[in-house]
Parts: sequence; C-alpha cells; structure tokens
Amino acid sequence: MAASATSGRLAFITCGSVDDGKSTLLGRLLHDAGALPTDRALPLTPEGELDHAALIDGLMAEREQGITIDVAYRPFATPRRAFLAIDAPGHEQFTRNMVTGASNADVAVILVDAEKGLLPQTRRHSHLVALLGMKTVILAVTKMDRVGGAEAVFRPIAEAFAPFAAKLGIETVIAIPVSGRTGDQVVERGALMPWYQGPTLLEALERLPVRGREGEAPFRMAVQGVVRLPEGGRAYSGQVASGTVRAGQAVRVLPSGRTATVESVLDGDGPVAEGLPGRSILIRLDTELDVARGDVLTTGDSPLEVADQFEAHLVWMGEDPLLPGRMYDLRLGTRTVPVQISDIRHRVDVQTLAPLAARTLSMNDIGLVHLTLGREIAFAPYEESPEFGGFILIDRQSLETVGAGMIRFALRRAHNIHRQALNVDRETRARLKGQKPAVLWLTGLSGAGKSTLANAVEARLTAMGHHAYLIDGDNLRHGLSRDLGFTDADRVENIRRAAETARMMADAGLIVLVSLISPFAAERQMARGLMVEGEFMEVFVDAPLEVVEARDIKGLYRKARAGELANFTGIDSPYEAPKAPELHIRTDQLAIDAAADQVIAALKDAGRLRD
Ligand code: ADX
Repeated sequence: MAASATSGRLAFITCGSVDDGKSTLLGRLLHDAGALPTDRALPLTPEGELDHAALIDGLMAEREQGITIDVAYRPFATPRRAFLAIDAPGHEQFTRNMVTGASNADVAVILVDAEKGLLPQTRRHSHLVALLGMKTVILAVTKMDRVGGAEAVFRPIAEAFAPFAAKLGIETVIAIPVSGRTGDQVVERGALMPWYQGPTLLEALERLPVRGREGEAPFRMAVQGVVRLPEGGRAYSGQVASGTVRAGQAVRVLPSGRTATVESVLDGDGPVAEGLPGRSILIRLDTELDVARGDVLTTGDSPLEVADQFEAHLVWMGEDPLLPGRMYDLRLGTRTVPVQISDIRHRVDVQTLAPLAARTLSMNDIGLVHLTLGREIAFAPYEESPEFGGFILIDRQSLETVGAGMIRFALRRAHNIHRQALNVDRETRARLKGQKPAVLWLTGLSGAGKSTLANAVEARLTAMGHHAYLIDGDNLRHGLSRDLGFTDADRVENIRRAAETARMMADAGLIVLVSLISPFAAERQMARGLMVEGEFMEVFVDAPLEVVEARDIKGLYRKARAGELANFTGIDSPYEAPKAPELHIRTDQLAIDAAADQVIAALKDAGRLRD
C-alpha cells in the first residue's frame, strides 16, 4: 500500500436522503467554495435566496441526460485541492456502485438531520461504509438552523455516533454541525454556532488524506472478449485493472492456471509498448490457450486465488427475501456464474451490530453468508481489491440486482474437497441396463395427479424391462427431507435435494420420475440445469384449482381454506405454472392411462427407450 497523502484528489460519497438536506448542503458547498460554473442563471427561492437544492439537482440531472447512470459524479476544485463528489440517489444504487468498486471513495459524508437524530438508515449506511473499507467518516449534522444552532442538539448525536462507528472499525469520525440553508460551518464559519471550534466541512475535506491505493500492484485484467484478428489468431480484450503489461512478459490465465508469454499489446490504433492501468487493450499470447470471457490474466506474482466457495458480507436488496438453496447469478467483474447461498451465518442487527441467527435476509438486511458457485473463479478478498472481491447477485427470472457482496475469504473446504474421478462412467452404467437415462420432472398442484401418473408410468417402464425409480414428494418428506416444512425457503431446499438425488440416479443409468409440486420456475430451471443436456423432461400435470380442490383426496384444501394449514400451494402460497414444459397434460380432460401413454410416447420420441 502506498502511503496516504493529503494532496491528490479526494473522492467523497454523500450518504443520506434528500430529506436530510443533501442537495442543499452539496449545493451550498459548491457555491460557497466558488466551484460552480458561472455561465448559468442561478435558481432562486421565492424569498430571493439562492436555491441550493434546485441548483445541485439541475447539475446532476444534466449529467444524467440520455444515459442511465445511477451515480452522479461532480468534480470540483478549490485553490487547495481537487475533489470528486459522488452522489447516489438511492440506497440500492449506492450499494451496488460502492460494492463493485465503481466509485472508489476515500471518505464518506454521512448526513444526519439535527431534528431527527441517528436513524436506522444512518446506521445502515455507516455499516456499509465500514464494510467497504472506509476508515474515515464525516458526520454532518444538518439543518442546524432549524434548532437554533444549539450545541445541546448536536452533542448527543455526535456522542451517540462515536462508539457505534468505533465498533464498526471506523477509525476517524469528524462530526460537524452545519446548515446548508444558511451556509454556517459549510465553507464559512457563520454566526450561528460560535461554540463550535472544529473545522468547517470544506476545511475537513481539504485536510483529509486520500485512501492508500495499491502502489506497485501486479498486472491483472479480466477478459471482456475474445477477438479474432484479421491476420489470424486470437487476442483478448479487457481493461487493465492494475499493474502494467508488455510484450515478452509471462502471464497466467485464471482459473485454469495455464501460462503463456505476451506476444503483443494493442490498443485501438495498433501495437503499444505497454498496457497501463485503466486502459482498454488487446493482448496476443504466443500460444493458443483456451481463454474465455471472465477469465483473468495476471502475472505470476499476483496473489489472486481460485475457489468456488466463499464467505462474504452480503447486503440484500431484493424485494423478495433471499432463499438459501435458490440459484442466483453472481457477477464479479466480467464473470457471471451460478451461485447458491449455502449458509447464512448471521444477520446483523443494525441498531446494536449484534449477530442474529437468520434463515433468510430481507430487503436492506446485511448478513454474513457462505456462497457456493457453479464453477471456480479468480478473486481477491474485497479488502485487497474491490474489483476482484466485490460482486452483485442477480435474480435469474427477473434479472434484477438483488444483492451486493464483499468476499472475505475462500472456504477451506473449497480447496480440500476434490471431485473423485470414477473408473466406471455413466455411459457404461446405462449401457449395462440397456437404456438411456432420463429425468421426468412432474410438477403441478397438490391433487393434480402427479403421483398417480408417475406410478402408472413407472409400472409401464418396468413392464417394458426398463429400470426406473420414482422420487415422490410425500415419501421424500418422510426421509431425506423430513426436517423441512412448506415455507418458500424449505421448498427450495426440498427441491434442491430431490434434484441432486435425481441427478445421481440418472448417473447410475436410471430413468427417474420426480413427482413434486415444485411451485417455483427458478428451482425447476435449476433442476434442468443440473442434468445432462437432453435428459430432462418437464411434465406439467395440470388441472384447474377448482377441480383439484373439489377432488381434495387428502382433505388438505379444506383445511387450508379453514385456515388450519398455512402456506398451502394454490391457496396462500403461489404456483408458477411452467411456460414451456416438454409435456403438458390436462388430467381433468385425459384419463390416467391415456396420459401415461403420452409420457411413454414422449420418452420414445426423445430416443430414451428401446424400440
Ligand atoms: S414442494 O413444494 O416442496 O415441491 P412437495 O411436493 O414436496 O412440495 O410436497 C407436497 C405434499 O405435501 C402435498 O402433496 C401435500 O400432500 C403435502 N402438504 C402438506 N402441507 C402442504 C402445504 N402447505 N403446501 C403444499 N403441500 C402440502
């Protein structure tokens, strides 16, 4: 790490809502510091005063025109220093941009409304700021004019915040009472608070050191694309994250670990001597390696690790709570890989910072979790590198960002558990049985006829001399899944176990029938993804709710309607009907024998059965 310095541009992020007077304060700071463009008509309030909020909102809006940027960057300078003010409109944008290293702020200015004091939001932001590695916070207690500039209002807020920040590992807190409206203690001292002897907001910002950045960092570049060159061969495009690269240098490709020598470095205009940090370049290697988008090129001394299980801090931003066991997409730099939250170690109480036991995370919760990725990636702990340690989670159905996280370390077991190579392969096992494996996944409401149909199909397959096995929801819940109930999280876990079991059975060469309500599209997609291409068949066993409710073989619908059974599918728990199942069978229109014929015919068509 390079030594920190008080020279150099200071980037600061403002945390707080518009209600805390954020725009007014920022507008006042820029205006009084003489950092505003002079060629515009300045907006005035009805009283003829300068309207700082309108001013800053106007400046921000201008920058956002036509492009969807979530964060507004406002560079400005005083005679003493250059600054970059970073303003994120909402909690979600703030978190996402901070975590992914899009805004590398040195300092956070956390706003607290003097009339409201510390809010849960203040504590949440502080926690985030600390997780993001910032060691210095300016606590700006705003709207001091509304409380007559009273020291008795300011002191308790500053005193309550100090121990909280210390617990978070924030080393320096500078608490400043300010008024954006009157300008007191922003740039000028003003007359409102003569009792305050500390620095004004601008003075504090001018004196603070910038965060130590990596000095002689090793070369790292995440591959954005693979380009075919007109003269033949391939080159790898990307933006240099750190270090430099030049021809003749040895590089390592991660996660594969293969090495090669750089033949040439190019930019848009042709060969260059050196690829520098922040530059978009193309790299040609002397040997053709299997390099794909998302791989990382590094030099040998780069301490990037490779693993597929991590412990990480996670900020949940999804409207729906996190479901452990559900498959999400994790995006880290240019890489996107499937991920499951395999364990929630704890959720943090924002008020006390105490770790609480949790089975899920709801919107705005911060937790410590274990993640299991679909494949290995190259990474660094977030503390070392936001670029290689910060990630976001994406919901695979809605494609929305639902979480942002910071990797702490790889789990030891990720290094210590290896896949055992087996001598007998799945083809051999299937051949011995004279069949091709398949997984028939029957989904539908309770009472739609899944188990009846699955039974009939299994009987037929057996009569034909095939080896089949039926995994039935009710039976599973008496054994492997007997610890699970019917909350969304428990269902997701139940379906994950069934899918993993089905995969092993298909590996063993069996034709597997799975009969589960499996109400969520995400988990059915996950099950499909687990199986070998072409071996998965989704069968939608469909009958209208009125029909299955009228049948009510187990008497459960009646109980659910009477309020004696909670989370019942179709009543007070959702069923997401398959959009494109391989087979759609209406059991209210088709007799069981005819339905079983259809399933057998579909298996034949798919080439899974002997003629
Ligand atoms: S799933 O949602 O996790 O796929 P699964 O198929 O294993 O469900 O279990 C469904 C069976 O459990 C139903 O056939 C029904 O007999 C029984 N059951 C008990 N409570 C519920 C409930 N709340 N919702 C749905 N099924 C329930």
